[in-house]
Amino acid sequence: MRTDKEPIYPVEPWEVTETAFFKKETARGDNGFSAIERNNYRNETTFALSNGYIGTRGTFEEAYDFDIDTGLEGNFINGFYESGRIRYGEANFGSPLRSQSLLNLPNLKETLLYADGEQFRMDEGTVTEYARTLRMKEGTLERSLIWTSPGGRRIRIRIGRLVSFEKRHILAIRYEAEPLNFDGELTFVSRLQADVENHTRKTNPIVDYGPFGRRLEPLRLTAEERRLYYEGITKGSRLTMGCGSSHRLWLDGKPAGARESYETGELEASVSLTLAVRKGETAALEKMICYLDGEVSMRRAEELLAEAEATGYGGLKERQRACMDHFWETAGIDIEGAGADALRQGLHFNLFHIFQSAGRDGRTGMGAKGLSGEGYEGHYFWDTEMYVMPVFIYTEPGVAKALLDYRYAKLPEARDRARVLGHDKGALFPWRTINGEEASTYYPLGTAQYHINGDIAYALCLYFQVTGDVEYLKEKGAELLIETARVWADVGSFAECRGGKYCICSVTGPDEYNVLVDNNFYTNLTARENLRNASRAVRYLREHAPERMEELERRLDFSQEETVLWDRIAENMYFPYDEKRGIYPMDDGFLMRKPWDESKIPPEKRAWLYENYHPLFIMRHRMSKQADAVLGMYLYGNYFTEEEIRRNYDFYQEVTLHHSSLSTCIFGIVASGIGYREEAYRYFSQSARMDLDDYHDNFYAGIHAANMAGTWQAVINGFAGVRCQDSGLSFRPYLPEDWDAYAFCLRYRGRRLRVRIERERAEFTLLEGERIEFWINGRRAAIEQEGGSFVEAL
Ligand code: BGC
Repeated sequence: MRTDKEPIYPVEPWEVTETAFFKKETARGDNGFSAIERNNYRNETTFALSNGYIGTRGTFEEAYDFDIDTGLEGNFINGFYESGRIRYGEANFGSPLRSQSLLNLPNLKETLLYADGEQFRMDEGTVTEYARTLRMKEGTLERSLIWTSPGGRRIRIRIGRLVSFEKRHILAIRYEAEPLNFDGELTFVSRLQADVENHTRKTNPIVDYGPFGRRLEPLRLTAEERRLYYEGITKGSRLTMGCGSSHRLWLDGKPAGARESYETGELEASVSLTLAVRKGETAALEKMICYLDGEVSMRRAEELLAEAEATGYGGLKERQRACMDHFWETAGIDIEGAGADALRQGLHFNLFHIFQSAGRDGRTGMGAKGLSGEGYEGHYFWDTEMYVMPVFIYTEPGVAKALLDYRYAKLPEARDRARVLGHDKGALFPWRTINGEEASTYYPLGTAQYHINGDIAYALCLYFQVTGDVEYLKEKGAELLIETARVWADVGSFAECRGGKYCICSVTGPDEYNVLVDNNFYTNLTARENLRNASRAVRYLREHAPERMEELERRLDFSQEETVLWDRIAENMYFPYDEKRGIYPMDDGFLMRKPWDESKIPPEKRAWLYENYHPLFIMRHRMSKQADAVLGMYLYGNYFTEEEIRRNYDFYQEVTLHHSSLSTCIFGIVASGIGYREEAYRYFSQSARMDLDDYHDNFYAGIHAANMAGTWQAVINGFAGVRCQDSGLSFRPYLPEDWDAYAFCLRYRGRRLRVRIERERAEFTLLEGERIEFWINGRRAAIEQEGGSFVEAL
C-alpha cells in the first residue's frame, strides 16, 4: 500500500475542508478525467453524512450531472435493499440465488437558486472564498462561497447540512443567500428526483451482480403546501419506502412569504419559492427531508417533518452538537506533540465516520462502507464485529448492543444456512449480507469464511467482559453462543493422522489469498474459543438462570450433553505448527506453497491481484493478503508467549502484502505488544490517514470502516496495551517516540475511566462510577472512588 501521499486536505484536527470546486473545463489527464472530476467522486465520500439509519453522499445541492466515473448521487436507508435473481454461469448447490444490494434512493437535497433568473452553478460565473467543511465536532457539513453570476450579480451563499443523530429520519439543510450588490428576486427550486439507479458497474466491476436500472416503482408522488412526497416499492425485494421534504423561508431571521409554484412529473416533483430580497438581506430556505421504511405513509412523513420544523435547523444543529460532544467525550483520543495534528485529523475523521455509520435499531448492522457509498453492495461483513464493535463496546456500549441485537435477530436465517451446509444443528452466519441471508456468490471467498461465527462470538464475549451485562447473556448471548458453537462441533473431525486432534478442513480464514484451506490457524483458534465460551455460558445459565436454560433446551432441542463434546474439541483443537521455525503456519499447506516473487508482477497489477490473475495462481503462492494468524495472536495473546508472538510476527511480516485495508492496524497492534515500536508507529500512521489520503485509490466507493475503527484499536489496544479478559481490565502502555502524551477514556462495567500516558507516568482517573480495579504492567491497581486517580511510573 502507498504511504507517500501528501495530505489531500489542509491539516486541521477537527475539520476537513475542500478548498477547490469542480470545473468542467479543467484540463483532462491521461485517464480522461480532470483531477477535480476525480476528486469529486472521492470527496462525495469524505463529506458523506449519516446517522446509522439514513446516509447521504456529499454531493452538491446544484445536482451537477457527473457521470459514472466522476460522481454518484447517493441516498440510502440502512437495511433497505433490492434483490434480484443472481445470474450464474455455473451455480453449486447452496449458492445464494437472490442478490442483496443497498438501494440508492430518491434524492431530495437538490436545491437550485436563481437570482433574477440567473441560475447559480459553480461552473458558470466566478466563485471566490470557497470552502466546504466537514465539522467533526459539530456533526455538520458547511459550504460557503461568493458567487458572481455571468450577469455580474454577487451573492454570498452559505449552506449547512446535517443528518440528525437525534431524529433518525431527518436530513436537514439550511440554504442562505445574501445579494451583495443588487436588489432583486431570488427563487429557490427544491426538487425531488426519483429517477435514480445504483452505479453497480462502477462499484462492483468484476461481478455480474446487483441492481441494474431503476428498481423503485413509484406508488405516490405529490407536491403541495410546500411539501414534496414520494412513496415507492422495490421491484424485487418488495420493500416500501417513503421520503419527503418541507420548506420554510426566512428573510433576515423572520418568516417570509413567497410566490409558490409546483411541478410534478412521473418521477420528479419540485416546489419553487420566489421572494424579493434587497442588497445585504439574507434569505434562508430551511429544508427538512425525511426518509422512512417499513410502515410508510404520507401522514407519518408529515409528522416527522413537522416535528423537525418545530425544532428548526438551529435547534437540530444544537442537539447534533450535544450528541457529538457526548461521543467525543469518551471516544476522543487526545494526542499531544508537535506534528500530531495530521494524526489527530485522521483519527477524528475515522471515528466520526464509524460513529455515523453504525445501525442502532437492532434490525440493521453496519456496512463495510457504512452508508457512505455503494461499495461491496452495502453488505455487512465481519468488519463490524472484529474491528468496529470493540470501539463501541469500550465507548458507546449501547451501539454495540444494538449491533449484536441485529445478529441475534438473524439467527433464523443463520440456522437455515447451516442446514444448507449440511449441519443438522446450530447456525452459520453469512459472510456478507443485509437481510441475514448469505449474499456472497463466490463461496471460496464467501461462505467458506466460517470464522464469521467465531467473530460474532468474540465480539459478544468482549461485550460481556467489558460491560458485565449478564442480563444480555441470559436474554440473547447464550443462545448465540450455543448456536454458533454447534456448527463448530459438526464441521470438523478428530483426525487420526493428526494424533486424534480436531481438524477443520476446507475453510477460508480472514486471509483471502489462501482459500479453502485445511486447519486455518485463526479459524481453529476462534472456533475453540467459541466452543469454550458456549460451554461456560451453558454452565452459567444452569446456575444462574435455570429456567431460561430449560427454555433454551426445549426450543433449540439442545442437550447439555453437547457441551461434553464441545469441551473435548476445545481441549483437542489442532493447530498447524512448524518446529523448525517455531511458528504457526496459517494453515496446513502454507509452507508448501511457492514463494511469492513480487518482482515478476508489474507494478500496476500488484495491488489488484484478483483483477489480474487467476485465483489458482494467487492461492498457490506463499503470501498473504492481510492479517490472519497475527490477528489471532492479538485477540488471544494470553495463550502465547511474547517470544512466540515475535517469531510469528517476523514471519508474517515478510509474507503479508497488506492488500486489504484490514491489515495494517492489526500488525501495528501486535508490533506494539512485542516492542517493535517504530514499526507499530508506522503502521498506525498509515491506518490513521488511509482514507483521508485515499491510499487505496478507491475511497469514492465508500469508507473502509474496519480500518477506521482499527486505528482506534491501534492506540488503545496497541500503544496503551489495553486488554479485557477474565482477570479484568489491563494496561501495558507506552508513549510513541514522537508524542508528548496521549489520553483517552474507556467505559468499563458502568464506570468511565480516563487514561493519560506520558513518557514516564500513566495516570488513571475514575470519572464516573464506583471503585475500580485494573492491572497495569502486570500489577494490580485500584481507584477507590469517583474522582480519584492512580499514577504509575513507566
Ligand atoms: C477483505 C475482507 C473484508 C472485506 C470488506 C475484503 O477485501 O479481505 O476481510 O471483510 O474486504 O471490507
